[in-house]
Amino acid sequence: MSGRAAKKVRVGVLASGRGSNLQAIIDAIEANRLDAQIALVLSNKSDAMALDRARKHGLTDVFLDPKPFAGQPDSRDAYDRAVLDVLRKHDVELVLLAGYMKIVTSVLVKAYENRMMNIHPSLLPAFPGLDVQKKALEHGVKVSGCTVHFVTEGVDEGPIIIQAAVPVLPGDDAALLAARVLEQEHVIYPMAIRWFLDGRLVLAEGQVGVTGEGARQFQLADR
Ligand code: GRF
Repeated sequence: MSGRAAKKVRVGVLASGRGSNLQAIIDAIEANRLDAQIALVLSNKSDAMALDRARKHGLTDVFLDPKPFAGQPDSRDAYDRAVLDVLRKHDVELVLLAGYMKIVTSVLVKAYENRMMNIHPSLLPAFPGLDVQKKALEHGVKVSGCTVHFVTEGVDEGPIIIQAAVPVLPGDDAALLAARVLEQEHVIYPMAIRWFLDGRLVLAEGQVGVTGEGARQFQLADR
């Protein structure tokens, strides 16, 4: 249709804490580096800084309290059904986990199969779960990094979209290493989202390929 901008993909961000990855995504959108619209930011924590960031940018923020669901035999599924209701109510097409400290169940995974991404502060499949940099340092790794992947039912599993590596330096503690990794998270998450929005991610036999010239240039020139 002439004269009308293409409809922007509606993104839902799920976050539990600080929200620096959310901020990187907001910044990329506001700088026109990402052609998407954040339909809502949802948190399981009422005091998540991510919700403050959403409000500051005029975005819809939703706190969905897990407490009323606790005690039910399928409390995790029930919570995710409620999350799904909210996501659907806001026409969310792509879900981004950004420091979301809750295991997502098959309820969400199936509803958003290949349309839900997560960022994790390690070079997966090394060091899934929590206390990542502590474990990495205890193992004496020389390189750490971060991974964006599609979400499947296994925690921090799922087809890898992009990774960035950082060196482990003498004198590093978990906080120093985490900060170095975080800088790269803020680069690769918007990049993975852009590839998705541009239709450049191809999933075959459980592996993600990136089509197009830019992908090759990024790998050769920037890494
Ligand atoms: C990041 O390190 C992310 O990789 C992990 O949780 C942290 C969230 O940080 N999943 P922030 O809330 O985005 O600042």
